[in-house]
Amino acid sequence: MTVLGRTAALVPAAGRGERLGAGVPKALRTIGGIPMLVHAVHCLASSRVVDLVVIAAPETEVDAVRALFVEHESGAEIVVVAGGETRQASVARALLVLPDDVDVVLVHDAARPFVPSELVSAVVHEVRSGHDAVIPALAVTDTIKTIDGSGFVTGTPDRSSLRAVQTPQGFSRSVLQAAHAAADDDLTTDDAGLVELHGVAVRVIPGHEEAFKVTRPIDLLLAEALLTKRRAARTNG
Ligand code: C5P
Repeated sequence: MTVLGRTAALVPAAGRGERLGAGVPKALRTIGGIPMLVHAVHCLASSRVVDLVVIAAPETEVDAVRALFVEHESGAEIVVVAGGETRQASVARALLVLPDDVDVVLVHDAARPFVPSELVSAVVHEVRSGHDAVIPALAVTDTIKTIDGSGFVTGTPDRSSLRAVQTPQGFSRSVLQAAHAAADDDLTTDDAGLVELHGVAVRVIPGHEEAFKVTRPIDLLLAEALLTKRRAARTNG
């Protein structure tokens, strides 16, 4: 009989969020009165496929983040560590504290507060079906250009072969750990990028518009509107 391990989600939440404007770290900015990080962790926990969540918090906010999850119980076990200088370093620090019985690892940006729980389950399902690396992605709607350092276009890649990649990204633990252990600092902006460097096939599944990342002030408006819609649906349903 095969004994399945547990599934953990690593949540890098140590970014400063400079593109959102000065103030509190991005993951602690509130949407509908509740920090973005709390929304993100509750979405992961409500999928019921995540047993443990490891949060990489801003170094000065580790105790505050622990207190936050005493106040906002999620149902999943929560561990909080101090994040690093880059997203990649924050994920690497979270990986270090995983218990031995975890065999599938998701990495999910705190800055994607409203990922639908069906997307979380779909990623875990694909990993448990035998794919070592799984990412959700959407077709791009804008035409994308490559440019040089002086502001001139160098090319127009075929849009039909481009995808905008989201999180959670899912991995078998051994593959993700090996990729991080071998990586130099700040090589890539996502974890799939690291495992690609090892020749691991990365499976792409359909992403979801509601898994968008809050980066700029206009994304906060969208996030507030989506939360209002979800709260109304809960009240009426
Ligand atoms: O900057 P960006 O929006 O790509 O960040 C994606 C995620 O990585 C965010 O949730 C952010 O908090 C996290 N991050 C981190 N440590 C850093 C930089 C970013 O955990 N040093």
